[in-house]
Amino acid sequence: MIELRDFRDEDVHDLFRWRREPEVDRWMYELPPGQFDEHQKWFDEHRADPKRRGWMITLNGAPCGFLHLYGISRTQRRAQWGWFIGEAEARGRGAGRAAQALGLDRAFSEFDLHKVWSEVPAGHETALKAQATAGFRREGYLRRHAFKNGEFRDVVLLAILSEEWAAKRDSVRRDLVASRLIAA
Ligand SMILES: CC(C)(COP(=O)(O)OP(=O)(O)OC[C@H]1O[C@@H](n2cnc3c(N)ncnc32)[C@H](O)[C@@H]1OP(=O)(O)O)[C@@H](O)C(=O)NCCC(=O)NCCS
Repeated sequence: MIELRDFRDEDVHDLFRWRREPEVDRWMYELPPGQFDEHQKWFDEHRADPKRRGWMITLNGAPCGFLHLYGISRTQRRAQWGWFIGEAEARGRGAGRAAQALGLDRAFSEFDLHKVWSEVPAGHETALKAQATAGFRREGYLRRHAFKNGEFRDVVLLAILSEEWAAKRDSVRRDLVASRLIAA
Protein backbone atom coordinates (compact mmCIF):
# COMPACT_ATOMS: atom_id res chain seq x y z
CA MET A 1 0.00 0.00 0.00
CA ILE A 2 1.31 3.40 -0.98
CA GLU A 3 0.95 6.38 1.37
CA LEU A 4 2.42 9.86 1.79
CA ARG A 5 3.73 11.00 5.13
CA ASP A 6 5.44 14.10 6.50
CA PHE A 7 9.23 14.26 6.69
CA ARG A 8 11.08 13.05 9.75
CA ASP A 9 14.64 14.06 10.62
CA GLU A 10 16.00 10.62 9.73
CA ASP A 11 14.58 10.81 6.18
CA VAL A 12 17.61 12.90 5.28
CA HIS A 13 19.60 9.65 4.90
CA ASP A 14 17.26 7.91 2.45
CA LEU A 15 17.00 11.11 0.45
CA PHE A 16 20.80 11.41 0.27
CA ARG A 17 21.08 7.86 -1.05
CA TRP A 18 18.27 8.33 -3.56
CA ARG A 19 19.45 11.68 -4.91
CA ARG A 20 22.79 10.02 -5.70
CA GLU A 21 21.18 7.00 -7.32
CA PRO A 22 22.02 6.96 -11.07
CA GLU A 23 18.42 6.31 -12.23
CA VAL A 24 17.13 9.24 -10.15
CA ASP A 25 20.05 11.54 -10.95
CA ARG A 26 19.65 10.76 -14.64
CA TRP A 27 16.41 12.74 -14.84
CA MET A 28 17.29 15.66 -12.54
CA TYR A 29 18.54 19.07 -13.73
CA GLU A 30 21.01 19.53 -10.89
CA LEU A 31 24.03 17.42 -10.13
CA PRO A 32 23.54 15.07 -7.18
CA PRO A 33 24.86 16.22 -3.80
CA GLY A 34 28.54 15.41 -3.41
CA GLN A 35 28.83 15.71 0.36
CA PHE A 36 26.31 14.87 3.06
CA ASP A 37 26.58 18.40 4.55
CA GLU A 38 25.45 19.91 1.27
CA HIS A 39 22.48 17.55 1.18
CA GLN A 40 21.58 18.26 4.84
CA LYS A 41 21.44 21.96 3.97
CA TRP A 42 19.11 21.20 1.04
CA PHE A 43 16.87 19.11 3.33
CA ASP A 44 16.74 21.78 6.05
CA GLU A 45 16.03 24.56 3.56
CA HIS A 46 13.34 22.45 1.92
CA ARG A 47 11.52 21.92 5.22
CA ALA A 48 11.78 25.59 6.19
CA ASP A 49 10.60 26.98 2.84
CA PRO A 50 6.93 28.06 2.95
CA LYS A 51 6.78 27.75 -0.86
CA ARG A 52 7.70 24.07 -0.77
CA ARG A 53 5.95 21.06 0.68
CA GLY A 54 7.33 17.59 0.48
CA TRP A 55 6.33 14.12 1.59
CA MET A 56 7.96 10.74 1.79
CA ILE A 57 6.25 8.10 -0.33
CA THR A 58 5.96 4.88 1.67
CA LEU A 59 5.32 1.34 0.48
CA ASN A 60 3.78 -0.78 3.24
CA GLY A 61 5.17 1.73 5.73
CA ALA A 62 8.75 1.79 4.40
CA PRO A 63 10.04 4.89 2.61
CA CYS A 64 10.48 4.32 -1.13
CA GLY A 65 10.35 7.79 -2.67
CA PHE A 66 9.79 11.50 -2.47
CA LEU A 67 7.14 13.84 -3.82
CA HIS A 68 7.03 17.59 -3.51
CA LEU A 69 5.25 20.74 -4.54
CA TYR A 70 7.51 23.74 -4.96
CA GLY A 71 7.18 27.31 -6.08
CA ILE A 72 3.79 27.22 -4.33
CA SER A 73 2.02 30.47 -5.06
CA ARG A 74 -1.04 31.16 -2.92
CA THR A 75 -1.90 34.19 -5.05
CA GLN A 76 -1.56 32.44 -8.41
CA ARG A 77 -2.90 29.19 -6.92
CA ARG A 78 -0.32 27.03 -8.66
CA ALA A 79 2.72 24.96 -7.83
CA GLN A 80 5.32 22.89 -9.58
CA TRP A 81 5.49 19.14 -9.16
CA GLY A 82 8.47 16.87 -8.57
CA TRP A 83 8.75 13.22 -7.55
CA PHE A 84 10.84 10.12 -7.69
CA ILE A 85 10.75 6.54 -6.55
CA GLY A 86 14.18 6.10 -4.99
CA GLU A 87 14.09 2.38 -4.24
CA ALA A 88 14.77 0.58 -7.50
CA GLU A 89 12.60 -2.45 -6.67
CA ALA A 90 9.57 -0.19 -6.08
CA ARG A 91 9.74 1.31 -9.59
CA GLY A 92 7.61 0.14 -12.50
CA ARG A 93 4.88 -1.34 -10.30
CA GLY A 94 2.45 1.53 -10.03
CA ALA A 95 3.93 3.16 -6.91
CA GLY A 96 4.61 6.40 -8.78
CA ARG A 97 1.06 6.60 -10.08
CA ALA A 98 -0.38 5.85 -6.66
CA ALA A 99 1.75 8.53 -5.01
CA GLN A 100 0.78 10.91 -7.77
CA ALA A 101 -2.94 10.45 -7.06
CA LEU A 102 -2.38 11.04 -3.34
CA GLY A 103 -0.22 14.09 -4.08
CA LEU A 104 -2.74 15.64 -6.44
CA ASP A 105 -5.47 15.21 -3.84
CA ARG A 106 -3.35 17.13 -1.35
CA ALA A 107 -2.35 19.79 -3.85
CA PHE A 108 -5.93 20.57 -4.78
CA SER A 109 -7.57 20.16 -1.37
CA GLU A 110 -5.04 21.15 1.31
CA PHE A 111 -3.39 23.90 -0.72
CA ASP A 112 -6.44 25.01 -2.69
CA LEU A 113 -4.37 25.15 -5.88
CA HIS A 114 -5.90 25.55 -9.30
CA LYS A 115 -2.96 24.22 -11.28
CA VAL A 116 -0.05 21.83 -10.82
CA TRP A 117 2.64 21.81 -13.46
CA SER A 118 5.81 19.91 -14.15
CA GLU A 119 8.87 19.83 -16.33
CA VAL A 120 9.69 16.40 -17.68
CA PRO A 121 12.80 15.62 -19.72
CA ALA A 122 11.76 14.80 -23.30
CA GLY A 123 12.02 11.07 -23.84
CA HIS A 124 11.22 10.18 -20.22
CA GLU A 125 8.35 7.93 -21.31
CA THR A 126 7.62 6.45 -17.87
CA ALA A 127 7.07 9.86 -16.32
CA LEU A 128 5.18 11.24 -19.32
CA LYS A 129 2.89 8.22 -19.43
CA ALA A 130 2.27 8.19 -15.69
CA GLN A 131 1.42 11.89 -15.64
CA ALA A 132 -0.85 11.58 -18.70
CA THR A 133 -2.75 8.81 -16.89
CA ALA A 134 -3.64 11.25 -14.11
CA GLY A 135 -4.79 13.86 -16.62
CA PHE A 136 -1.73 16.06 -17.00
CA ARG A 137 -1.77 17.71 -20.43
CA ARG A 138 1.10 18.97 -22.50
CA GLU A 139 1.40 22.76 -22.43
CA GLY A 140 4.75 23.34 -24.02
CA TYR A 141 8.10 22.15 -25.22
CA LEU A 142 11.35 23.86 -24.24
CA ARG A 143 14.19 23.16 -26.63
CA ARG A 144 17.69 22.60 -25.23
CA HIS A 145 16.46 23.88 -21.89
CA ALA A 146 18.49 21.91 -19.36
CA PHE A 147 22.26 21.54 -19.38
CA LYS A 148 23.88 18.72 -17.48
CA ASN A 149 26.97 16.59 -17.92
CA GLY A 150 27.92 18.46 -21.08
CA GLU A 151 24.58 17.94 -22.84
CA PHE A 152 21.55 20.10 -23.50
CA ARG A 153 18.17 18.46 -23.04
CA ASP A 154 14.71 19.26 -24.29
CA VAL A 155 11.97 19.56 -21.67
CA VAL A 156 8.22 18.94 -21.90
CA LEU A 157 5.88 21.16 -19.87
CA LEU A 158 2.88 19.38 -18.42
CA ALA A 159 0.05 20.67 -16.27
CA ILE A 160 -3.22 19.61 -14.71
CA LEU A 161 -6.02 21.88 -13.53
CA SER A 162 -8.11 21.21 -10.46
CA GLU A 163 -11.24 20.54 -12.53
CA GLU A 164 -9.32 18.08 -14.74
CA TRP A 165 -8.20 16.15 -11.66
CA ALA A 166 -11.74 16.29 -10.27
CA ALA A 167 -13.01 14.70 -13.50
CA LYS A 168 -10.36 11.93 -13.49
CA ARG A 169 -9.97 11.34 -9.77
CA ASP A 170 -12.61 8.67 -9.20
CA SER A 171 -11.55 6.43 -12.08
CA VAL A 172 -7.83 6.80 -11.29
CA ARG A 173 -8.42 6.02 -7.63
CA ARG A 174 -10.73 3.09 -8.45
CA ASP A 175 -7.96 1.42 -10.49
CA LEU A 176 -5.39 2.02 -7.78
CA VAL A 177 -7.70 0.67 -5.07
CA ALA A 178 -8.46 -2.42 -7.22
CA SER A 179 -4.68 -3.00 -7.55
CA ARG A 180 -4.35 -2.61 -3.75
CA LEU A 181 -1.97 0.29 -4.29
CA ILE A 182 -3.97 2.77 -2.20
CA ALA A 183 -6.58 2.47 0.52
CA ALA A 184 -10.24 2.90 -0.43
C1 LIG B 1 9.02 8.39 -12.96
C2 LIG B 1 8.64 7.57 -11.76
C3 LIG B 1 8.32 8.50 -10.59
C4 LIG B 1 7.37 6.76 -12.08
O1 LIG B 1 7.06 5.93 -10.99
P1 LIG B 1 6.87 4.35 -11.23
O2 LIG B 1 6.33 3.78 -9.99
O3 LIG B 1 8.14 3.77 -11.75
O4 LIG B 1 5.84 4.39 -12.43
P2 LIG B 1 4.31 3.96 -12.57
O5 LIG B 1 3.56 4.13 -11.32
O6 LIG B 1 3.78 4.68 -13.74
O7 LIG B 1 4.47 2.49 -12.94
C5 LIG B 1 5.20 2.16 -14.10
C6 LIG B 1 4.65 0.96 -14.74
O8 LIG B 1 4.08 0.08 -13.82
C7 LIG B 1 2.88 -0.43 -14.39
N1 LIG B 1 2.04 -0.97 -13.34
C8 LIG B 1 2.23 -2.18 -12.85
N2 LIG B 1 1.28 -2.44 -11.96
C9 LIG B 1 0.47 -1.38 -11.92
C10 LIG B 1 -0.70 -1.08 -11.19
N3 LIG B 1 -1.22 -1.95 -10.35
N4 LIG B 1 -1.28 0.11 -11.36
C11 LIG B 1 -0.79 1.00 -12.22
N5 LIG B 1 0.32 0.75 -12.95
C12 LIG B 1 0.95 -0.43 -12.79
C13 LIG B 1 2.35 0.75 -15.14
O9 LIG B 1 1.42 0.35 -16.12
C14 LIG B 1 3.59 1.30 -15.74
O10 LIG B 1 3.96 0.60 -16.90
P3 LIG B 1 3.83 1.25 -18.33
O11 LIG B 1 4.59 2.56 -18.27
O12 LIG B 1 4.48 0.24 -19.21
O13 LIG B 1 2.37 1.43 -18.56
C15 LIG B 1 9.76 6.56 -11.37
O14 LIG B 1 9.97 5.63 -12.41
C16 LIG B 1 11.07 7.24 -11.01
O15 LIG B 1 11.19 7.75 -9.93
N6 LIG B 1 12.05 7.24 -11.90
C17 LIG B 1 13.36 7.79 -11.61
C18 LIG B 1 13.38 9.27 -11.24
C19 LIG B 1 12.48 10.10 -12.10
O16 LIG B 1 12.43 9.86 -13.27
N7 LIG B 1 11.76 11.07 -11.54
C20 LIG B 1 10.83 11.89 -12.31
C21 LIG B 1 11.53 12.93 -13.10
S1 LIG B 1 10.42 13.82 -14.13
